[in-house]
Amino acid sequence: MTDDYRYYENKTVLVSGGAGAIGSNLTRTLAECGARSVIVLDNFSSSYKWNVPNLPNVMLVEGDVCDEVVLKRVFFEKPAVVFHLAAFFANQNSIDYPDRDLATNGQGTLKMLQYATLRGVDRFVYASSGCSIYGSGAPLPLKEDFLSMNLSTPYQITKMLGELYCNFFHHHYGTPVVKARLFNSYGPGEVPGQYRNVIPNFVYWALKGQPLPITGSGEETRDFTYVGDLVDGLLRAGCLKAAVGEQFNLASSVETRILDLATMINELTGNEAGIKFASRRKWDSKSRLWASVERAERVIGYRPKVAFREGLKTVIDWFRAKWNLIDASASFNPGMSSAVRDRATASAAAREAEPVVALVAGWNGAQERG
Ligand SMILES: NC(=O)c1ccc[n+]([C@@H]2O[C@H](COP(=O)([O-])OP(=O)(O)OC[C@H]3O[C@@H](n4cnc5c(N)ncnc54)[C@H](O)[C@@H]3O)[C@@H](O)[C@H]2O)c1
Repeated sequence: MTDDYRYYENKTVLVSGGAGAIGSNLTRTLAECGARSVIVLDNFSSSYKWNVPNLPNVMLVEGDVCDEVVLKRVFFEKPAVVFHLAAFFANQNSIDYPDRDLATNGQGTLKMLQYATLRGVDRFVYASSGCSIYGSGAPLPLKEDFLSMNLSTPYQITKMLGELYCNFFHHHYGTPVVKARLFNSYGPGEVPGQYRNVIPNFVYWALKGQPLPITGSGEETRDFTYVGDLVDGLLRAGCLKAAVGEQFNLASSVETRILDLATMINELTGNEAGIKFASRRKWDSKSRLWASVERAERVIGYRPKVAFREGLKTVIDWFRAKWNLIDASASFNPGMSSAVRDRATASAAAREAEPVVALVAGWNGAQERG
């Protein structure tokens, strides 16, 4: 643990989405470095109570970031720092449920900023998404000054909307915001599921002895970043003065091919079922993700440390240690991930969102006819 985290000793800190993949790791680190109280605000829409660190200085408040009663409750505790990680995650989920995406990522972020501003917090750190807000076709490595209008899912749009609200509050009210643009998190704490990232899902299937489904050619790259490195960047963003008003990438700054990822996971887990290929998802328009972390290094001294293979081993160890809980929690309705579904296998989720699906299908039809 670095001296930089001493700032958090005896502080009250609010982590929205603190039960989630990144939030649970952030909560644990804050609690372990001596925060007086870490308030986890989470509605458990995409996480599990067993994933919240069971530590005496962690206070769990179950509720929605859009709910004024809940917000009054958590801000009554006068948090010095707010880490706003709660989000409707992620791309395919937002396509299936665009209204819920806007409610949480748009309205929820606005409400969190309003309460943080009224309470006069020392810092509001917004978990933005570098994978989203640079859109497709941005020059590589991705740098903070690039702006894109080529956003291809509601999630990408609302993660950008969150940044724009941060800008508004910073400029109009002087709210000390920081926008941390995270890239492709992986690590212990992320439970596999229909809408989850590729690494937990691949590890889950590999441990079950199933072939790993690659959507595309496998030549696509991502900037996989170990969750401990992201937590380090977030904590620096939450306490260092130079971060206020800034936006910066938090990434590993290393490109990894999906094919190499799948091969490595099969090798590390001893899975002999191999790889299978499926067609690329329509919204998935980025063939490469690679971020510059030069600004984060310069402004807050961020330096990612965990090598990919070592990070993957930690994930696999965590899966083995928590296997019963993970296996009971992982859900791939109706038995497959969004990564491999197509129109012919529309899921229960899509059927539930029938009006939207029908609307979109009707619109597409009209386009085809027109
Ligand atoms: N995981 C990544 O690769 C990645 C990449 C870029 C950005 N981000 C951002 O980082 C943040 C954390 O990501 P994560 O991977 O931990 O996601 P996650 O889904 O694991 O965690 C989000 C948490 O927010 C909670 N939540 C959702 N809606 C809520 C609501 N209305 N009220 C209260 N709680 C709610 C969920 O239950 C969950 O615990 C998100 O803002 C995400 O957009 C993540």
